[in-house]
Amino acid sequence: MTLVFPAPSLAKSTASGLEGVIAAETVLSEVDGAKGQLVLRGKAIEDLAGKLTFEEAIAFFWDGLIETETSLEDRLLQGRLKAFELMPVLEAAPRDLPVYQRMRLGLSALADTQSEEDAAAICAALPVFLAASARIQAGLKPVAPDVSLTISQDILQMLTGRMPVERAANALDRYLVTILDHGLNASTFTARVIASTKADMASAIIGAMGALKGPLHGGAPGPVLDMLDAVGTSENADNWVAGELKKGIRLMGFGHRIYRTRDPRADVLKAGLAELPQEDGRIALAEAVETAALAALRRHKPDRPLETNVEFYTAVLLEAAGIDRSLFTPLFAVGRSVGWCAHVVEQQQTGKLIRPASRYTGPMPQI
Ligand code: ACO
Repeated sequence: MTLVFPAPSLAKSTASGLEGVIAAETVLSEVDGAKGQLVLRGKAIEDLAGKLTFEEAIAFFWDGLIETETSLEDRLLQGRLKAFELMPVLEAAPRDLPVYQRMRLGLSALADTQSEEDAAAICAALPVFLAASARIQAGLKPVAPDVSLTISQDILQMLTGRMPVERAANALDRYLVTILDHGLNASTFTARVIASTKADMASAIIGAMGALKGPLHGGAPGPVLDMLDAVGTSENADNWVAGELKKGIRLMGFGHRIYRTRDPRADVLKAGLAELPQEDGRIALAEAVETAALAALRRHKPDRPLETNVEFYTAVLLEAAGIDRSLFTPLFAVGRSVGWCAHVVEQQQTGKLIRPASRYTGPMPQI
């Protein structure tokens, strides 16, 4: 068979990575990449994170969009308790199953118990699945939720079996609110695509979790700490980052598809560090690596502004709050699930299937 290839000019899509393509209208959040501004439902992120608990932020973010039969507060409490009833499913899986995968297993089991879509149940369950999955992987029994605690406090309680330290819980609230929603990022788009097929909400959230996991999206903060460990001392920062860039390795925690200035969430998270005790020299090391990376990236890509993104200070803040790096991406899913659910509902309201076209560049049959 003779293969006939089209002209090479057709091979490159004009919308590589869908950059600049507007694929949805939303009242939920706006990311202004030029100004470095993030707005959630009319409020700047700086006016929400560090000021609201995670629960208060959920109520604010879902207001008028996601209604619950009983109060949202009650639904979130009940959701934690109901999720714990699914522990036999989580405990039946092999011990070495990673936390993130076990959380998805929990969500699949939860979907089976839901007669109708329940965003609050999904968002309340993920923190329970996260803590239980971490304990199961460590060979420990899951700890039951304590609904007298806030979700952030309870995550720490369920992880450790001890009452949480207030400032660590506050840092977690700050983190979860900061990353609650962020325009049409890859995982949110995934959730909307799945919702547009009229699949159930849990399927959309499980799919979104898959998209979040990669290092170009929500998988970067753990590797940020690996980078700090590898650099070791502030004096080594310049050499180390230059060496990585020379090898063609991307520096985790830098660069963003939309922001051409510093990601505003990086500063919101950095501000939270003031409230936490620090391991000697760790922040100084992080700042030295950041300074070295920004200078090296400017030399490496003079035409493309590559600035600090949310993941860099996510890593530093969550580490200072005493959270293991293996839980950073699972925690990202806990916070972002609130945004995903709202986008699913918004997408459902459009009633429109998302189905873009592709440009075929392969061979055609010969006539
Ligand atoms: N280190 C080194 N080079 C980089 C970096 C980086 N962190 N980021 C981008 N570049 C380079 C790329 O290699 C590319 O160079 P090339 O044109 O020579 O191939 C150029 O800058 C443009 O990069 P793209 O991948 O085309 O830009 P995009 O907007 O798609 O990338 C992304 C955004 C994926 C976040 C990128 O900056 C990156 O990989 N950063 C590191 C991983 C990271 O921090 N991820 C978390 C993102 S925040 C979030 O999702 C919550």
